[in-house]
Amino acid sequence: MRYIVTSALPYANGKLHVGHVAGAYLPADIFVRYLRLKGEDVIYICGTDEHGTPISISADKEGVTPHEVVKRYHDSIKEAFDGVGIEFDNFSGTARPPHHKLSQEFFTQLYNKEHIQSKVTLQFYCEHDKRYLPDRYVEGTCPKCGAGGARGDQCDKCGQIYDTTTLKEPVCKICGNTPIIRETKHWFLHLDSFCDRLKVWLSGKDYWKENVLNFMMGLLEQGLIERSITRDLSWGVPVPLPDADGKVLYVWFDAPIGYISSTVEWAEAQGKPEMWKDYWLSPDTQLIHFIGKDNIIFHALIWPAMLMGQDVCYCLPHDIPANEFMNLEGEKISTSKNWAIWVDEFVKEFDGEYLRWYLAVNAPEKQDSDFSFKDFQLKVNTDLNNTLGNLANRVCAFTVKNFDGKISPCEFDAESQAVISEADALLSEIEAGYKDYQVKKNTKLVMDIARLGNKYFDERKPWSVIKEDKAKVNETLSVCMNLLAKLSIAMYPILPKHMLRLREMMNLSSGFAFADAYGTLQSEVQLGEIRPLFRKLEDEEIAKQLELLKASSKAAPAVEYAPIKESISYDDFAKMDIRLAKVLEAEIVPKTDKLLKLKVDIGSEQRELVAGIAQSYKPEELVGKTVTMLVNLEPRKIRGINSQGMILAAHSDGKIKAILPDGGGSAGSVVQ
Ligand code: 2FM
Ligand code: ZN
Repeated sequence: MRYIVTSALPYANGKLHVGHVAGAYLPADIFVRYLRLKGEDVIYICGTDEHGTPISISADKEGVTPHEVVKRYHDSIKEAFDGVGIEFDNFSGTARPPHHKLSQEFFTQLYNKEHIQSKVTLQFYCEHDKRYLPDRYVEGTCPKCGAGGARGDQCDKCGQIYDTTTLKEPVCKICGNTPIIRETKHWFLHLDSFCDRLKVWLSGKDYWKENVLNFMMGLLEQGLIERSITRDLSWGVPVPLPDADGKVLYVWFDAPIGYISSTVEWAEAQGKPEMWKDYWLSPDTQLIHFIGKDNIIFHALIWPAMLMGQDVCYCLPHDIPANEFMNLEGEKISTSKNWAIWVDEFVKEFDGEYLRWYLAVNAPEKQDSDFSFKDFQLKVNTDLNNTLGNLANRVCAFTVKNFDGKISPCEFDAESQAVISEADALLSEIEAGYKDYQVKKNTKLVMDIARLGNKYFDERKPWSVIKEDKAKVNETLSVCMNLLAKLSIAMYPILPKHMLRLREMMNLSSGFAFADAYGTLQSEVQLGEIRPLFRKLEDEEIAKQLELLKASSKAAPAVEYAPIKESISYDDFAKMDIRLAKVLEAEIVPKTDKLLKLKVDIGSEQRELVAGIAQSYKPEELVGKTVTMLVNLEPRKIRGINSQGMILAAHSDGKIKAILPDGGGSAGSVVQ
């Protein structure tokens, strides 16, 4: 089995932001690193997408050639990837001549088989600029959802693509005039002729992510139509036909071919120019495209059809893990409003692997997620510092102090063996997670191993046992070293640099396989130089970043939400006994303006308690209302009153409001 893993080719028209990394790059890089730990034969392919109207618009605006724009962004994007440790086997670009040649061959083969046919169509034309206005040269109102600012070919709001001339209220982006509609000849890919083959191919894909499958089923139900694959532009791959002057291939036609041309470039760089065929032309290859959700149609429909229509038998996509989007501080990331975190700038302030961790914890796998600086700080400080870093530091420091940094393998008692077995069970779950691109779940599972270690260390109390039983402490530390060794492998795909450092500290080899994580270390561990693995992020540096973001953005500042707290188990949640309670009496607690003394009926009994909601309600307003109440909170004396429980309330717009269930409910009902 061989793997070709690709990430969507980023447009060479802007810098890389955290949303890009979270969607199509980090999950792929993690997957590839995992496959390598499994000894699989895998190549990870990418490059910049260097055609399309936005690039030629940027070049026009700046008065430079598109090549200059492309070169600048290609280099900046590559540097940003390096900063977060995204390591491709090859990172090419679609403006390179071999890519043009291959794209033209793709076109010609489809054309010769009559899958591509020409047609005279209507197109927006600007009489002021004397040119046709493809795609983004024109803007208007989406014909599908009515959103403003829709592009000529696709609406950002609803994601639909449509026939350009159906765009409502069109405006020329160069001069602002209303364009006219004119005839022009274009070439169309007849997707309908692939319909049956596509259906058969898709029918075996029940393992795909739900978002991709649902999207595809919807499209197939609508019926496949022809799609225009040429544009009136000078920047792009020229259409290889004699009557196609001034026409280039649509950027989405040539872009995915970049996966192949980049592999060809890779093979040449290896000194084995034919080697790309071992991957692309083998039935044993699994081709896996990591993309963002806006790219599904191109990868799951048009691209497979293009591959099916070639003379040679290319492998078809095996899987297309598409991720949702990542927002920023509660708002949609917007390049034009500069509401974005640019990766190259971010890694100058923070370790690139802290970003990897946060984007993995917060991966937009099943739904859109949100990047919040405070949450970033919380996750780095609690997971990396207080959980994993704490385990590594305390175990290593104790070993250096009491054992000269040396721990020998030994027999494990039942408690120790149970810890090792639990960690091994977690490792199997982690493997399943990596295979299934479940990066977010894996960040929790690896932390479970670290938590297991901290709990075991605490329970074994080595600081006191050392006085009477040094052998037992050696055992405790050996188990913890084993857990750290397991973690260094299990977490390697997510935090490669730090895990290699952890292994270096423990003098473990830098060449390892995932299988090495199971079982126990057979030889003595002699610690090397000990350094803290992570650093804490301070409030001031986070506040500074937030200010910078707001100051440099043209977007309205978003509402600030408190970061989501560390996850808890269901058992933790189940410990809380929340019930509906009816307020019988209410009065202000003397000499306060925020506290109410309440008498409530919780069905089985009546209780007295104090609630800090006096600024939102007059006492008489609450009498007779049903509220939600935590009834098994330890009683506390507040202002001399024995407060037996807590009314649940929401902090909103500077006020604290009790949560009143719609439609009341009978006192004593359990809330779940
Ligand atoms: O959406 C994008 O950023 C595109 N440049 C992705 C292209 S993916 C592939 F087909 F090349
Ligand atoms: Zn114009």
